[in-house]
Amino acid sequence: MIIAVDGPAGSGKGTLARRLADHFGLDHLDSGSLYRAVARAMLEAGTDPGDSAAAAAIARNLDPATVDAGGLRSPRVGSAASVVAANPQVRAALLDFQRAFARRGAVIDGRDIGTVVAPDADVKIFVTASLDERARRRAGELAAMGVAHDEAEIRADLAERDRRDCERAASPLRRAADALLLDTTDLDIEAAFQAALSLIESRLGTRVDTSS
Ligand code: CDP
Repeated sequence: MIIAVDGPAGSGKGTLARRLADHFGLDHLDSGSLYRAVARAMLEAGTDPGDSAAAAAIARNLDPATVDAGGLRSPRVGSAASVVAANPQVRAALLDFQRAFARRGAVIDGRDIGTVVAPDADVKIFVTASLDERARRRAGELAAMGVAHDEAEIRADLAERDRRDCERAASPLRRAADALLLDTTDLDIEAAFQAALSLIESRLGTRVDTSS
């Protein structure tokens, strides 16, 4: 089974995807970590993330199976990731790995999973939440990591990333026509998970066990 979970930053798609993978005994891929890994390598090398030839070369040489988490979640890497992710050559270089991962049965979260990576997914969920709520969550995440932050800046950064992700020509962030919509603005993690299970149940036409 393939479950595609797409949505903007801070919508809760990553946490939801992990919970669903555990529940269904499927592997999970956070596809954003691949774009973040390319961005991190560029920042470490002092290269401008907007340098498309350099970004493409790094993406082609990346071994997606061995990406380590160190520093990937920093706001700086997140912003640079949304710049490299607009580069069609970077996207092309990362596509085969994601498709092969999906074919083995998986929950994958990202921006274009339901539209480009796995258009034939059994279930597609598009997760949203208001910008204010997403900024609040991201601020909480940074506080938990001990990273100094300013909530207004985070909000502006998220809005800018939303704009870049939605307006780019290559695989923009958009809801697939057959994706189920889940607005998590007023839902905590558990409530979002239960709501997703209900949606999946209705889509697959079967009851799924909600006890774990
Ligand atoms: O966790 P968060 O939503 O903040 O970010 P992420 O999912 O790790 O993605 C980081 C950036 O990578 C996003 O802003 C997108 O520009 C890009 N991305 C993408 O273009 N396509 C994907 N399938 C996943 C991420």
